[in-house]
Amino acid sequence: MKINNNQYEIQSIPVLDIAQQFGTPLYVYDADKIVEKINQLRSAFATVDLKIKFACKALTNISILQLMRQNGVGIDVVSPQELALGLHAGYQGSDITFTPSGVSFDEIETAVAAGAIINLDNLSVLQKFGEKYGNTVPCMIRIKPNVAAGGNAKIMTAHEGSKFGIDIRQRDEILQIVSQYDMNVVGLHQHTGSDIKEAEAFVRAADIIFEFAASFPKLQIIDLGGGFKVSYKEGDPITAMPELGAQLSEAFHQLSQKLGRKLQLWFEPGKFLVSESGVLLVNANVVKPTPNRTFVGVNSGLNHLIRPMMYGSYHHIVNVSNPVSTHTQTYDVVGYICETDTFAEARTLNEVHENDVLALLNAGAYGFTMSSQYNSRFRPAEILVYQGKAHLIRARETMEDILRNQILLNIQ
Ligand code: LLP
Repeated sequence: MKINNNQYEIQSIPVLDIAQQFGTPLYVYDADKIVEKINQLRSAFATVDLKIKFACKALTNISILQLMRQNGVGIDVVSPQELALGLHAGYQGSDITFTPSGVSFDEIETAVAAGAIINLDNLSVLQKFGEKYGNTVPCMIRIKPNVAAGGNAKIMTAHEGSKFGIDIRQRDEILQIVSQYDMNVVGLHQHTGSDIKEAEAFVRAADIIFEFAASFPKLQIIDLGGGFKVSYKEGDPITAMPELGAQLSEAFHQLSQKLGRKLQLWFEPGKFLVSESGVLLVNANVVKPTPNRTFVGVNSGLNHLIRPMMYGSYHHIVNVSNPVSTHTQTYDVVGYICETDTFAEARTLNEVHENDVLALLNAGAYGFTMSSQYNSRFRPAEILVYQGKAHLIRARETMEDILRNQILLNIQ
């Protein structure tokens, strides 16, 4: 979203026109931005055999998945339902990685039957997989390297106390099971967490995986997960991709040399690919001055974008209806849910009038996918701006969606 001719635009379409045509609250994604991010990642790792597997939990709309597929990006899924969405978007099973945590074994069997490759993240699951498939189905192992990094405790996944992966200190048990069943381990995986700005954390975790790689003669893949930090506000530190690319690629080449064969380097970014592409457009229902602060109450809330409430995350907000004003004011931007759902506190915005359209930026990742029907409100519609045109890619919910699957007992 850019200001051009004194108005906010996405691919030259005035954002206000999109809001008017489709109504608010509305998620709008810019396909060009997604493609730009894919290319950024590719150019940072241009010297290695890079495969990108979009962590689709960040944004599962099937049109977005289709866009990823058209751009040569695979997907990482965490449930049979995400797997089904991937297949629906035209992916082959072989383009899909299943990285579940603590699921029942039948989910793993479903994913194997669909042709996906599985990241096994528990010794008992590794054992069951070995017993059932022996060396007939290639697999990957998710390692927990015990590296603590990430934007906040809720989104860290590789530290000592984390439930994810098989602890690197259990390497002997892993190797024993693999050898007992002659398993075809083609990849090692690790995912450190989300919002990681320090290249050093990626390198430290990678070193542990690289070292273990030598124990697997059939290894083809090192999957370093996702977690690149994006900028949620001006001046926010981000993962420096060119530096990270240079550092990791160098270490990766050394590993390939040491092992005497070429490996693929996989990443599973979610936020990095889609966060900046998305905005949540909302309507300022009320402006409410009080003696010590002025609230702007919008037609959305934690039911549509839970990140500020759940993680204390910052989302930049702009007044789309008043893009170039000399008059600013400080507001608390709050939702319409019946509990405190503050999007932004003491935020300076161009003066807000009732019925102005506001945009919450960087809402492409973990926005819609974490939305709910709390307060029995409809989830927003979704729009993809693709090749200069705004396309509806999910209709706004209706009362039918709220009533779906509910059963009236007819209690007299
Ligand atoms: N791979 C695995 C195995 C993951 O668990 C995740 C995210 C990713 C990749 C992608 O991470 P990303 O590149 O998006 O940071 N809801 C939180 C983020 C939770 C991330 C969960 N796992 C948020 O809104 O900040």
